[in-house]
Amino acid sequence: MGLLFRSLVVLVMLLSSSWLPIIVSQSPASSAHVLDVILQDYAYRAFVHPRTGVTFDGRVPSNLTGIKVAGMRLRSGSLRSRGVPDYKEFRIPVGVVVQPYVERLVLVYQNLGNWSNVYYPLSGYTYLAPMLGLLAYDAVNLSATNLPELDIRASISPINIHFTNVKSVPDGSVAKCLWFDLRGNVNFSNVVSKNTCSTAQQGHFALVVEKPAPSPAPAPSAVSHKKKKNMKKVWIIVGSVLGGIILLTLLAMLLSWFKKYQQKKKMQHMEKASEVGEALRMTSVGSGKAPAAMGTRTQPTLETEYAP
Ligand SMILES: *[C@@H]1O[C@H](CO)[C@@H](O)[C@H](O)[C@H]1NC(C)=O
Ligand SMILES: *[C@@H]1O[C@H](CO)[C@@H](O)[C@H](O)[C@H]1NC(C)=O
Ligand SMILES: *[C@@H]1O[C@H](CO)[C@@H](O)[C@H](O)[C@H]1NC(C)=O
Ligand SMILES: *[C@@H]1O[C@H](CO)[C@@H](O)[C@H](O)[C@H]1NC(C)=O
Repeated sequence: MGLLFRSLVVLVMLLSSSWLPIIVSQSPASSAHVLDVILQDYAYRAFVHPRTGVTFDGRVPSNLTGIKVAGMRLRSGSLRSRGVPDYKEFRIPVGVVVQPYVERLVLVYQNLGNWSNVYYPLSGYTYLAPMLGLLAYDAVNLSATNLPELDIRASISPINIHFTNVKSVPDGSVAKCLWFDLRGNVNFSNVVSKNTCSTAQQGHFALVVEKPAPSPAPAPSAVSHKKKKNMKKVWIIVGSVLGGIILLTLLAMLLSWFKKYQQKKKMQHMEKASEVGEALRMTSVGSGKAPAAMGTRTQPTLETEYAP
């Protein structure tokens, strides 16, 4: 009995600990970051004869057809003092500061085209124009891959993003600006003027509109994904706790049933013993019926062992 109980407890613990790795491994998907790494590489490949302050359009691998990438190499001093008034859809004002300090940097431009929904799926919202990306990297080695992003910040006035080829906004809906920072945080803001969003930092930007669908509380999928995952976690935890409780309850029931059963047996034995009297006891010990008698004798030890 003690062994049974202990092994069941161990089983419950094992079951709940085997769920833990599942909970821990559910980190947010990093496919969008992997894409950033690939696109940095392909943007840098465009710098065959690099010239400062000139836009170089890159070529993406065939399995990413539909995505546009470009790079522009700049001195960080000139970025700060002159800005880049016209870099694709981006209007970069003076006063953009790069950190940590590098002498030259590359601003990588991304237009995710028909892949916007693949890498940044939205739920409750639709894209009015493709997702755009602006990311800054050190330009010291134009063959480098896997570069960490630099931090750029607009210190005087914000960077404006003027979206082109924008789908018309459905009646009664309002276009919103969507910004994913490099850590995957999402933020909405209002358009600053027609089809124009603004930002103080780098990241991925889109013009979106709420779906008129009956979804009552729509949210971008990065958020709802997290929520769903959190809900899943909660359910797994609740499930394991409930499961544990049910298992322990069943175990307790089993234990009390077993105790009752043994007591009943003991009573039966005692009744029998009193019915038949001393004679049987003597014979039963003598005639190999000893186990029954021993069972009755060991009973008290079991009870003291498991009584709380
Ligand atoms: C595209 O194909 C290349 C091989 O040509 C592969 O290394 C890469 O992972 C693929 N990229 C994507 C995003 O599927
Ligand atoms: C995007 O369009 C290109 C053709 O222009 C196609 O090859 C590619 O598969 C499309 N991507 C997606 C995710 O549909
Ligand atoms: C530039 O980066 C490439 C790829 O990581 C590396 O092979 C090369 O040695 C680097 N060059 C310099 C000058 O650091
Ligand atoms: C999102 O935008 C609001 C308003 O601009 C701001 O208060 C908030 O800090 C932003 N959130 C993040 C994560 O940047």
